[in-house]
Amino acid sequence: MTFKKRILCIGAGYVGGPTMAVIADKSPDVRVELVDINAERIAAWNSDHLPIYEPGLDEVVKRNRGKNLFFTTDTDRGIAESDIIFVSVNTPTKTFGQGAGLAADLQYWEKTARQILRASTSDKIVVEKSTLPVRTAEAMDRILNSNGSGPHFEVLSNPEFLAEGTAIEDLLDPDRVLIGGMNTPKGQKALDDLEAVYASWVPRDRIIRTNVWSAELAKLVANAFLAQRVSSINAVSALCERTSADVGEVAHAIGLDSRIGPKFLKASVGFGGSCFRKDILNLVYICRQHGLAEVAAYWEAVVAMNDHQQDRFVARMISEMFNTVAGKRIAIFGFAFKADTGDTRESPAIRVCRHLLEERAEVCITDPKALDNAARDLGPDTPGVVHAQDPYKAAEGAHAIAVMTEWKDFQALDYQRIYDSMEKPAFVFDGRNILDHAKLHKIGFNVYPIGKAALTHV
Ligand code: NAD
Ligand code: UDX
Repeated sequence: MTFKKRILCIGAGYVGGPTMAVIADKSPDVRVELVDINAERIAAWNSDHLPIYEPGLDEVVKRNRGKNLFFTTDTDRGIAESDIIFVSVNTPTKTFGQGAGLAADLQYWEKTARQILRASTSDKIVVEKSTLPVRTAEAMDRILNSNGSGPHFEVLSNPEFLAEGTAIEDLLDPDRVLIGGMNTPKGQKALDDLEAVYASWVPRDRIIRTNVWSAELAKLVANAFLAQRVSSINAVSALCERTSADVGEVAHAIGLDSRIGPKFLKASVGFGGSCFRKDILNLVYICRQHGLAEVAAYWEAVVAMNDHQQDRFVARMISEMFNTVAGKRIAIFGFAFKADTGDTRESPAIRVCRHLLEERAEVCITDPKALDNAARDLGPDTPGVVHAQDPYKAAEGAHAIAVMTEWKDFQALDYQRIYDSMEKPAFVFDGRNILDHAKLHKIGFNVYPIGKAALTHV
């Protein structure tokens, strides 16, 4: 079959994989290819066991793979044959040198730019899909167009707003698609071409065009605002625990104000995920670079509050369990950073488990999708860490349960059976407020929700 357009995506991860699968699904006349330096990941994309768990993803991939959706490691050929190249490589927080701990590590990004330059024989549209510091497109443009009379590269910013666990839903029905380009005839033509890709299924009025810098910055700011709401309600949860106010009731009451809105007001043990922390710290770094110390401090507090919420959770566990957890078994219900994903990057469960291990507790982790990642995060043979696929086994002989992820599976368990198998007094620390606390209390548990009065038996 001859295709109308050829799209390449460099980086077949949590963003590249689902996004390209949906583009292929919605545009049968477009050839979509994904490449990655990780050959194992590519092999998994070509197998029955995809490298990431995402509801609905298997069906979309299987429907299109081999027709107009391809996964390979042959990056140079892919570059040479494509019209539009999405770059969706990882941009983690830098761990070394200038900006360590704050700035984005752009090495994967820059390597990609140089490879595109080397392997291209015709003009290309290069799309920043990764989340990048504002004005990265300028650097990209300078590297790519440093070749004088060679092919022309038009750089666009098209940040991705999908959330894990709902990636396919978010891609199929996005609140908006944001594309930024240069205000030049070539820039506007490239925007038209990219807009046409999304217009196969996204209504035109939801495709927003801006200048490149606004698109780059809007992505960092969107994540900062979302995370700031979680940190705000978590700050309030601490006050609720001291005053017998109920954080759920407070969130409901304020969320009915249409200026505030009800979403992202669930108090929790803290936000996790590969994006919020990294992107806010990146924003902090950029503000500092521009001499905006107070603005940087404002956003940095969102991350500090999140760390505090996790530390406060563990401190409460220790103090309520008679000031020691040494030698006690704690069942960790959920290790993923949120439900419906196996992703554990920056999951609050990591920090909570590390603290508990420092206190010489034994943690027994159960999670429907994230046990492999949990083993990697805490070290495969770390003393004091046990895994159990079955939550009943995880809770057997435990002194406490700590709910870290809001998996629905945990709500459906038989807590009388669990209580009967645990040490007494038995404790539940519900870091997601998902369980029926009154029922647990009636069974005999001492229950500690987030931002609500504890239900105890003493
Ligand atoms: P990921 O780590 O899952 O995937 C990135 C992939 O890029 C990896 O498989 C890696 O091997 C590959 N890669 C790195 N360098 C390469 C190179 N030179 N050539 C080919 N492949 C290369 O990361 P992700 O979660 O998909 O995130 C990608 C970007 O999207 C990041 O900038 C992130 O901030 C942003 N983002 C992520 C999410 C999310 O929910 N995960 C949402 C929106 C935006
Ligand atoms: C986020 C952004 O939502 C998405 O737009 C962006 O593209 C990538 O980063 P993600 O990290 O996948 O997505 O998940 P999200 O649903 O935003 O949750 C992030 C964290 O905040 C999770 O740990 C979640 O449990 C927590 N959270 C979220 C709360 O604790 N309370 C809430 O009310 C909402």
